[in-house]
Amino acid sequence: MKKIIVAIDGHSSCGKSTMAKDLASKIGYTYIDTGAMYRAVTLYALRHDLFYPCGNIKLDELEAAMPDIHITFRFNEETRRPDTYLNGEYVENLIRGMEVSSHVSPIATVGFVREAMVAQQQEMGRAKGIVMDGRDIGTVVFPEAELKVFVTASAEVRAQRRYDELMAKGQPASFDEILENVKERDRIDSSREISPLRQADDAILLDNSNLTIPQQNEWLMEQYLRVVNE
Ligand code: DC
Repeated sequence: MKKIIVAIDGHSSCGKSTMAKDLASKIGYTYIDTGAMYRAVTLYALRHDLFYPCGNIKLDELEAAMPDIHITFRFNEETRRPDTYLNGEYVENLIRGMEVSSHVSPIATVGFVREAMVAQQQEMGRAKGIVMDGRDIGTVVFPEAELKVFVTASAEVRAQRRYDELMAKGQPASFDEILENVKERDRIDSSREISPLRQADDAILLDNSNLTIPQQNEWLMEQYLRVVNE
């Protein structure tokens, strides 16, 4: 069967990674969570004091540090998904916390950060056989991807999912704070100058507000089978 690239873009916390991960494991593809890469850069910036108190980024210092930021993924047999490592350190849980979540959008607007991440992502997909999720996969990283999906759901539904996820991990959270964070990230992701979040002309739109996880997984599998059997 021919190998393809599956590009999944969409709003934050809309279940992109759940469906991407499920498809990848069923068809034996590599799953790549590009948001995790921007999150790992953010964690590095927080740890190295690269934010001014007002929240702006110390751009010159971050640019100088870019060659020292190495992000890798290692497949975790237990969770059946890749874990994120920053300079060899396991950071999968740290990058999902509120501190990183509330600083990541500005990091993802920085041109030299995006260039470095996109180059790595294109390299990861050179041999195809990948399911990659993010914001600019179908528009910038792989405009030639054979299957492009754009996922969305209402901000309230997405905040509730994120809240449930944090609770399940025992990480304290406030629903209102998460809802604000989801809305603020939508605003920054969609209005930034470089690679703003937008649906590629040839992407299929999926609003999963009223879909269960098995339903959305099934829907994605159908799209995949349609494309590979074309
Ligand atoms: O999908 P996520 O919430 O983990 O993404 C974290 C942030 O990174 C979010 O603000 C959007 C940004 N991002 C991006 O700009 N481009 C990508 N390909 C992936 C994520």
